[in-house]
Amino acid sequence: MRFFYPVISPSNLRFLSRCRLFNASSPKPQESAATHVLRRNVLSMNVAVNREAFRQAVANTLERRLFYIPSFKIYRGVAGLYDYGPPGCAVKANVLAFWRQHFVLEENMLEVDCPCVTPEVVLKASGHVDKFTDLMVKDEKTGTCYRADHLVKDFCNEKLQNDNTMTADKAAELRHMLAVLDDLSAEELGARIKEYGITAPETKSPLSDPYPFNLMFQTSIGPSGLIPGYMRPETAQGIFVNFKDLYYYNGSKLPFAAAQIGQAFRNEISPRQGLLRVREFTLAEIEYFVDPEDKSHPKYSEVADLEFLMFPREEQTSGQSTRTIQLGEAVSTGIVNNETLAYFIGRVYLFLTRLGIDKDRLRFRQHLAKEMAHYAADCWDAEIECSYGWIECVGIADRSAYDLRAHSEKSGVDLVAHEKFSEPREVEKLVIATVKKELGLAFRGNQKMVVEALEAMDEKEALEMKATLESKGEAEFNVCTLGKNVTIKKNMVTISKEKKKEHQRVFTPSVIEPSFGIGRIIYCLFEQCFYTRPSKAGDEQLNVFAFPPLVAPIKCSVFPLIQDKKYDAVAKLISKSLTVAGISHKIDISGATIGKRYARTDELGIPFAITVDSTSSVTIRERDSKDQIRVNVEEVVSVVKDVTDGQSSWADAKGRFPAHSSVSADA
Ligand code: ATP
Ligand code: GLY
Repeated sequence: MRFFYPVISPSNLRFLSRCRLFNASSPKPQESAATHVLRRNVLSMNVAVNREAFRQAVANTLERRLFYIPSFKIYRGVAGLYDYGPPGCAVKANVLAFWRQHFVLEENMLEVDCPCVTPEVVLKASGHVDKFTDLMVKDEKTGTCYRADHLVKDFCNEKLQNDNTMTADKAAELRHMLAVLDDLSAEELGARIKEYGITAPETKSPLSDPYPFNLMFQTSIGPSGLIPGYMRPETAQGIFVNFKDLYYYNGSKLPFAAAQIGQAFRNEISPRQGLLRVREFTLAEIEYFVDPEDKSHPKYSEVADLEFLMFPREEQTSGQSTRTIQLGEAVSTGIVNNETLAYFIGRVYLFLTRLGIDKDRLRFRQHLAKEMAHYAADCWDAEIECSYGWIECVGIADRSAYDLRAHSEKSGVDLVAHEKFSEPREVEKLVIATVKKELGLAFRGNQKMVVEALEAMDEKEALEMKATLESKGEAEFNVCTLGKNVTIKKNMVTISKEKKKEHQRVFTPSVIEPSFGIGRIIYCLFEQCFYTRPSKAGDEQLNVFAFPPLVAPIKCSVFPLIQDKKYDAVAKLISKSLTVAGISHKIDISGATIGKRYARTDELGIPFAITVDSTSSVTIRERDSKDQIRVNVEEVVSVVKDVTDGQSSWADAKGRFPAHSSVSADA
């Protein structure tokens, strides 16, 4: 809804072989086929059960096991602020490590780390001070604020779900409204609120007309209070203002990408939906600088065959549904604007699915025309489905040259790139030569502003003035900075076109920006990985997070089967070796039954459990299948390392080692 930028969502892969997709530099898929099927079944079950109950079960487990905690809880918390607890921090660290590997490392990006506190001038230039707004309505009695589009969305969804008396035409109208909601102006939203009779959710009082609310947290820098600033609403601006140095660092060559991971702050109007809409969150952003005349990408062919769910603009407005499209076809038919944008859509698809996002619950949605910032060439959101519906998790936008131009203008520093020609090229150039003496006599103190305005004329304007000066001897000319017209005489300026030899082209690069909301991705992953299964006794439902090893907060647990000094010693030895191998693990030598200990680690999403039931060999249990294998003590760490690093799969391990059958594998 925001003025700023748009986001997209991807589709799916058809053609690339697994070995190509999961090449040596990237971890292999971490899920066994059995786990995958199990997870899918569980997911369809999850969708079928009451969404609210499912969401509550996930939230209870996440909060009880300290994946996240409402911030400042002992003081009753603050809406939209959350802490990550130990397993949440570990999952987040894993997601960010994989992000660095998949993007920064594999694409040779230049990573930077800029401050959150940003002086006003930067965000004024970027447009955030004036336009980073959402449309808000107020409860006219209590003053409580709501996001206007959210109220209309809730109204439409509620009617569509619960109003059995509604005609087919009305239902189609509401569905259309949902599809175009992001495209509506303040006036249009206000008209819908009136037409539908929407009132304040809590008090049922009338609502104000929608009006823009700026989402930035304002502050001041230094003790004087004289330097206004804001907490950054995105990390991107830190990269744009460093463009000149980064370009030089890159050997003055395009294309190149800079990346940044950091906190972003948005004073959301009415945060809800837990981790999905918060007031401080981690963004991971990439700014890929490219020649606007050549948006091809050297590695485009590596993603062109991917197929996944896409939702082009026209198909949204005409009421069609998401469909599978091959990325290459989306580019050749003009659905996706250019190869570089498509390349990043493909890379985002691979990133999310490798993290464990279900490809059938991931789509790339194109922004509607008005939803897109006016300067943007094309925008897609990667949307992930969870119990709250389809959630924008990654925005992929072609921001054209907007930001660099804006900062060039405001700072006076040229943020441009150069293309050196192998042979000098002859070009016709417009030359505007001002006669300062005559202009000074005519305009005195305003001379500088008139000169600047004359020199800033584009070709069309300049040639028109030349023609008027030649025919009439003078021309009326609007000087914006003076706010009035002045009369320019023939002796004040010479306008001509001259042939010149040029050795280089100077231009402002375009920017393609994938912007990842890390908290949203993690929350969707939590939901998509969560399932319950009956305990062995059948008397309770046990919670499991089926995290792939790549994101699992802890990779394995170590238990002596029974309390016995010999077994404890072996468990401690294994724990030491796991530490040396860099495998996070949890050792549990409590007297709880083995079934209980398995249940505890399943609830944290720990994929493997090593149980010491002899001094020479141990068992390894896989979380979702509950299958076990028997492995010698000396080998166990390397087996666990291989399956957690993705060097081999659980199916490979089962092929190599004898199965161990035990009723206690069941929690
Ligand atoms: P929305 O329309 O949902 O408010 P947006 O279009 O303003 O999102 P962008 O400005 O494109 O979002 O931000 C980039 C990414 O940052 C989004 O794709 C999303 O993952 C994340 N994000 C944005 N706002 C929030 C928030 N309040 N809480 C958590 N993540 C957010
Ligand atoms: N591996 C020991 C057990 O699960 O019983």
